[in-house]
Amino acid sequence: MATEVAGVERRAPNRLFIGGEWVDAAGGATFETVHPATGETLAAVAEAGPADVDAAVAAARRAFDEGAWVRLDAADRARILWRMADLVEARREELARLEVLDNGKPLREAQIDITQAADAFRYYAGWCTKLQGDTIPVRGNVLNYTLREPLGVVGAIIPWNFPLLMASWKVAPALACANTVVLKPAEQTPLSALELAAIGAEAGLPPGVLNVVTGYGEVAGAALVRHPDVDKIAFTGSTAVGRTIMREAAETLKKVSLELGGKSPNIVFEDADLEEAARGAFSGIFYNAGQCCTAGSRLLVQRSVHDALLEKLAERARKLQPGDPLDPKTRIGPLVSREQLERVLGYIEQGRSEGARLVAGGGQAAYAGELRGYWVEPTIFADVTPAHVIAREEIFGPVLAVMPFDDEEDAVRIANETVYGLAAAIWTSNLKRAHRMARRIHAGTIWVNTYHPLDAASPFGGYKQSGYGRELGASALDLYTQIKSVWIDLS
Ligand code: NAI
Ligand code: MG
Repeated sequence: MATEVAGVERRAPNRLFIGGEWVDAAGGATFETVHPATGETLAAVAEAGPADVDAAVAAARRAFDEGAWVRLDAADRARILWRMADLVEARREELARLEVLDNGKPLREAQIDITQAADAFRYYAGWCTKLQGDTIPVRGNVLNYTLREPLGVVGAIIPWNFPLLMASWKVAPALACANTVVLKPAEQTPLSALELAAIGAEAGLPPGVLNVVTGYGEVAGAALVRHPDVDKIAFTGSTAVGRTIMREAAETLKKVSLELGGKSPNIVFEDADLEEAARGAFSGIFYNAGQCCTAGSRLLVQRSVHDALLEKLAERARKLQPGDPLDPKTRIGPLVSREQLERVLGYIEQGRSEGARLVAGGGQAAYAGELRGYWVEPTIFADVTPAHVIAREEIFGPVLAVMPFDDEEDAVRIANETVYGLAAAIWTSNLKRAHRMARRIHAGTIWVNTYHPLDAASPFGGYKQSGYGRELGASALDLYTQIKSVWIDLS
């Protein structure tokens, strides 16, 4: 069954994984996935339509109802998830290279993704044996206790920016809570999800417990959202599609959790270590070429240090050059697709025309001397005001909007002036200010004197229009279980 893509060995074929079998799409349709650095085609992958989604949901339903997973001893479920973590880790290099080819991110970043994906499986393996209820001292001669039960079939729809990692953040807790899953990866990056299906099978998941349908959002994704036999949709992606999913899910009242966009403020006070703050602001916006829901895309700098910080940043940005994403020394990759390239270039144009001052980048970047693939220069705009479109909308590319502020009050006002609330960072050496700001910023994650760290054990999710529900940590258990109250008359 082994295949390969551009020299990377694979265990999965480019087919759908349904009920433990690799199958073609019902109509035989396929779509192409490309390497974003060059735009060259990597593979043609099965394109699931509604009939394939029906088959995958039926397989997941059967696997759930027949109980091969939910009635397995929790300790044995844990062993299988733990084995998945081991297999992901054992294949770290080839999975990282596959992710680089499909997504375009630099190898160094892909390796971090794979390590964190393994972490998620190991963390949730541990929870299998700890999902317990309460005994509750109610009135009367009764025993009242709760059972924490799975929801049933979970539909997981994930984006292309961290393909295997986003799959793991959903699949690991969903399976730990004894649900079965239909996973739909993004059409731009289908390959690592197929490998995850192969890894699950090798680790001993019973057939139908994890199904993978590759295909388009408007077709396969939408069919999953509408399906009456799907009990829950876990989604990460754009706020626009999150809105559509909520609306569609209302028909069948399925449970929904949404991790959506962001426009995260990165706030530098004059008492910060400026060298550290520059480093943090740089990785805050340029990590994964800015294609992070948590990207620090609004840099708020206290006026007295504004010019000094801007200069440091612009200097670093100008040095950041395209390189082969498979080269471990490369620090920035291309955007994922032509569509993203055009979106981001459109925002850069918008920034120019609304009067922001360009201090670095500002255009498409060449790769190996040619304009090919989907490369954008690391771009920095200064003199941005909160009213500018580039200060309000998620750009999802290497484009930073820099704004000055006067004092703490001013910083809080500007930082919270957004419909989003995913993350924020604060750079200061004042301990009291750090804690005050952490309380006053409306966002699900606050970093102080750092940017980007996440951990399988710590809850992650959005305030406001960045979504709801918390992934990771113990909080995610609430997304994949429901509580039953049991009353036993003892009189
Ligand atoms: P998207 O939201 O369309 O795609 C995310 C996932 O949703 C993919 O698997 C896609 O196939 C699926 N999908 C799309 N339409 C669907 C529908 N009607 N029903 C069910 N599933 C559907 O994001 P897209 O178009 O790739 O990127 C557009 C923008 O979205 C980006 O520029 C960025 O601003 C934002 N975005 C945010 C992400 C985040 O991590 N919060 C991740 C990806 C995109
Ligand atoms: Mg879309």
